[in-house]
Amino acid sequence: MEPKDTISKTDTPLYVLAENRELGDLQLMDKETLDWIKVNSGYTQDVPRIPEVAFTENDIATLIEFLPADEEFLRHDHINALHGISHVSRTMVNMIAVCKRLGIEDYKPYLFMMRLHDLRRENDKGDTGHGLRAWEYFVANRNAYSYEFLNSAEYLEQLEVTVTYHETNYEDIPSEVLAKHQRVIDIVKAADALDRYRMPKARWFPNPEFMALQEAHALLPLAKRLTIESEELVLNGQDIRTAVINTAKKVYS
Ligand SMILES: [Fe+2]
Ligand SMILES: [Fe+2]
Repeated sequence: MEPKDTISKTDTPLYVLAENRELGDLQLMDKETLDWIKVNSGYTQDVPRIPEVAFTENDIATLIEFLPADEEFLRHDHINALHGISHVSRTMVNMIAVCKRLGIEDYKPYLFMMRLHDLRRENDKGDTGHGLRAWEYFVANRNAYSYEFLNSAEYLEQLEVTVTYHETNYEDIPSEVLAKHQRVIDIVKAADALDRYRMPKARWFPNPEFMALQEAHALLPLAKRLTIESEELVLNGQDIRTAVINTAKKVYS
């Protein structure tokens, strides 16, 4: 049985609900909140390009190939919400950019980490344990995915720790896990955090101080454009995946 939502879509903008600590389980972007985010995040389209992260047609084709289907999400009624397909798709765009910054050419294994990371969310709140549930979902559905890299035991170990601990503060991640896997955990946390400009509270926007991966900091202005401009297209009626793909092409041109 699916959990019952608390306050769902109401006439009150998300940023007001956040201010009043009244955010519900289901959080859907609204125009007032997006306008509020633009003002409070210092949004501008006038952002310097970073040539080294420019996307090729091949990058866009790979992104499209790796986007999750609606059926992969636990809550089909949450696909349009703050941790639904728009967020997951953008974290994958962010991951391509991060990998380019790091000189990682074969980024497909990293894209798969982002595809998986929020698939088992039950709600748009903290939802402790959704990372572990996502890993367990993968294990139970291993045969649905045929990517070559999934045959590597070393990769599967990275997939397990990044998906499981993507939501966990560093001080709560087991020290032996961090000792072995901190770099890849940093990478996944960065790609995830770069999409925090959709959050309805300024304190929750991405903060470089908490982004261990230094190389990702320069991507913040581009990530802000990606989040805000794709959300705007969706509010104007564009299909979510199409909106993210179109915005990625524009921002990472
Ligand atoms: Fe998450
Ligand atoms: Fe996420």
